[in-house]
Amino acid sequence: MISKWIEHLDEWAESGDLALVKVKALLQSDTLNPTKLRELADEPQKGQYVRQVLHHHDGYELVLLRWGAGSETLTHDHGCAGTRGAVLIVDGMVGNRVFSEKDGKLTFHRSFDVPAGDVLTFGPGLIHQMVNAQPDKESMSIHVYFPCLEQVTYF
Ligand SMILES: [Fe+2]
Repeated sequence: MISKWIEHLDEWAESGDLALVKVKALLQSDTLNPTKLRELADEPQKGQYVRQVLHHHDGYELVLLRWGAGSETLTHDHGCAGTRGAVLIVDGMVGNRVFSEKDGKLTFHRSFDVPAGDVLTFGPGLIHQMVNAQPDKESMSIHVYFPCLEQVTYF
């Protein structure tokens, strides 16, 4: 399943045709088996997450995240100008906390939870924190970032 996705993403990236709407539709096109997917990354400790790059291409990156119970990222942007992303929640529930930054000061805007099966998309300039919304159970998600994910700033 993942290899099929990579074939499509490679083709779109190479023809300069990667678009959020297509990536979102791709992530929603099949139901993944969480048990098989879990084997692709180490088991996270409680309070920590494990980030496993599944495929790196010049035009995008495909990443699997296993969220340990109660884990959360630092607040961050996505580096390269214009980077967009799509996140499929495969298992559990992941929370998204959205911020803005002005003159070095972060302002919190909103927070919402995304359940398994849903895809969260974001455009350029997003500053956010993602969290495992399940305090006692693991969650899992697959992320596609494009065109690149370099020079990320953590706040
Ligand atoms: Fe992010």
